[in-house]
Amino acid sequence: MENLILDCDPGHDDAVAILLAAGNPQLNLLGITTVAGNQTLEKVTRNALAVCAKAGIRVPVAAGAERPLVREQLIAGEIHGASGLDGPVLPEPAFDLDPRPAAQFIVDTVMTQPAGTVHLVPIGPLTNIALAMRLEPRLVSRVKSVVLMGGAVGVYGRTPVTEFNIQADPEAAAAVFEAGWPITMVPLDLTYQALATDEVLARIGAEGGELGTFVVEMLTFFGNQYRKERGLPAAPVHDPCAVAKLIDPAVFTSRPAFVAVELTGTWTWGQTVTDYRGQLGRPHNAEVADRLDTVRFWDLVTDAIVHLHNS
Ligand code: RIB
Ligand code: CA
Repeated sequence: MENLILDCDPGHDDAVAILLAAGNPQLNLLGITTVAGNQTLEKVTRNALAVCAKAGIRVPVAAGAERPLVREQLIAGEIHGASGLDGPVLPEPAFDLDPRPAAQFIVDTVMTQPAGTVHLVPIGPLTNIALAMRLEPRLVSRVKSVVLMGGAVGVYGRTPVTEFNIQADPEAAAAVFEAGWPITMVPLDLTYQALATDEVLARIGAEGGELGTFVVEMLTFFGNQYRKERGLPAAPVHDPCAVAKLIDPAVFTSRPAFVAVELTGTWTWGQTVTDYRGQLGRPHNAEVADRLDTVRFWDLVTDAIVHLHNS
């Protein structure tokens, strides 16, 4: 059983990550924290509560940073819509938020569990993680690992050289990569392989019951936006790729690298500069995911949706 805290900005793919984290019996979802990213903090937090209500998930949800550490706030309305989770009708929240700010919730949860037993899985901008590190520096040595969705190595994202989560708060991302804890970075190079094709959606709809229908409605909207805005054939469902690694480490391969976040480049700020060959003379600080077992991945996602539907 792997313990994790999911830090997210729902977000269509974040929503699927929540379902995978709560619906797989090998995972113990200790809590969900939210961060401004795809939409405002208020909207992403409401969306996290709505997904929990829809799926019957009952874990603590704590709201976090409403803006990045330094930069102006970016949002991704062109992909996720005005609500941040356009497509399906969203239920009202089924429970109240945890009263603590996300950073405090993360620190309290990690520091009260045995050392080395809790993974942090950030799948939005890394603001909450950086704030938690500032609040409790011992966090870095106590966390089992950080599996983050973010970055781009050889593909384009929001700009020719950046990915949204990292560019939305590059100072926070730089702090995370420099901290020295075990990091698995799940970049767009990996997550563009996690396409919600018509076949994937048909299976989820056929096997997942009402919750499956909800997921199909979400991913149909998500896919339409990606086709329109980015010319992709289907929606790349980025965030659950990070969660899947904790269930089955073989779900994707990875290679060690030194990763640095560019902070000053006029055209390149927010870029994850990824050095596999030691050219920069710096020690490796991350495992960088590269090849996804798509069959295994979609089996895990579909099985989690079915499990939650039947619970
Ligand atoms: O670039 C993809 C990432 O940005 C995903 O986490 C998506 O939810 C958005 O936050
Ligand atoms: Ca996200």
